Amino acid sequence: MTTLRPEAPPHAAATDAALLGQRFCGMQFSSPIVLLSGCVGFGEEYTRVEGFSNRDAGAVVLKGTTGAARLGNPAHRVCETPGGMLNAIGLQNPGVDHVVRHILPQLDFSETRFIANVSGSTIEEYVEVTRRFDDSPIDAIEINISCPNVKEGGVAFGNYPDMSAQVVAACRRVTRKPLITKLSPNQTDIAENARRCIEAGSDALAVINTLMGMAIDVRTRRAGLGNVQGGLSGPAIKPIALLKVRQVYEVAGPHGIPIIGQGGITTPADALEFLIAGATAVGVGTALFYNPMVCKVINNGICDYLRTHDLANVTELVGTLRTGNEVPGCALSG
Ligand SMILES: Cc1cc2nc3c(=O)[nH]c(=O)nc-3n(C[C@H](O)[C@H](O)[C@H](O)COP(=O)(O)O)c2cc1C
Repeated sequence: MTTLRPEAPPHAAATDAALLGQRFCGMQFSSPIVLLSGCVGFGEEYTRVEGFSNRDAGAVVLKGTTGAARLGNPAHRVCETPGGMLNAIGLQNPGVDHVVRHILPQLDFSETRFIANVSGSTIEEYVEVTRRFDDSPIDAIEINISCPNVKEGGVAFGNYPDMSAQVVAACRRVTRKPLITKLSPNQTDIAENARRCIEAGSDALAVINTLMGMAIDVRTRRAGLGNVQGGLSGPAIKPIALLKVRQVYEVAGPHGIPIIGQGGITTPADALEFLIAGATAVGVGTALFYNPMVCKVINNGICDYLRTHDLANVTELVGTLRTGNEVPGCALSG
């Protein structure tokens, strides 16, 4: 049995479960980690890897789902870049009917919370897919108005606050499940878009989806991706994601709307940065491709930090950024 030194802070003995657990939009999360859409298939992909467990994540977001099945984009669909990767999968998925009837019954809902990820080319398609998931055991619905890899819909909705608000309001009308809106970083004013999505009925926000990018092979003069352009993810986008989370937090925080911060998180320190910036939960996607055990490392690192700083729960850290405004005349940049 571990005996604590007399000077040990009071929360040094707190269990990992007590430190990491939280309520998120009415759901019980056992960890602030959310496994991100497109990086874990339909929730089963990594469960075949020895040592991996969905239980290490508070929630798992399923691959983007549309009304009809989609075959996706031509190869190559992924391409490594310095500190990150580009992808242009093109929303390959078997369609909502197959997901609801054949995939959801296979998921073990005792392990974690499962969140659907909804996409479409028209508002009607978003509504149809949301309605189908509403009538299913799924725990929550994330609407992806920010996918950069489809020709119509997707990011087109996400880049215009009016369009974003219309999609959110229409989906809100057909579901009482927690509704999360995933915002695009490829727009002028993400905070304004966040404000409009909150007004339209979003319960939470996911910040950010991938950034538009491309790569070229100079030997062949061909693009690295079959789709030419794609979404950049991984550590390369982390500073941008962190700023976007902070900007959205300033709008969402006063309304008590939680944020799933994401973009390049690979270490416990990355996750802590996002929490301090204002995220209530932290998304992990690309990092899983090179370390499927990364959730255990991040959970352990967060627990160590909370114990060292005498914090009773991860939520005590959310939005605690010291901006420099406390020190008069302290410049933040330049
Ligand atoms: C291969 C791949 C597929 C993705 N597919 C989706 C998707 O279907 N829906 C969605 O909302 N985001 C999708 N994303 C974006 C991720 O969910 C996440 O927002 C983004 O990659 C940033 O996090 P990361 O840097 O930790 O990967 C995908 C990302 C990757 C790398």
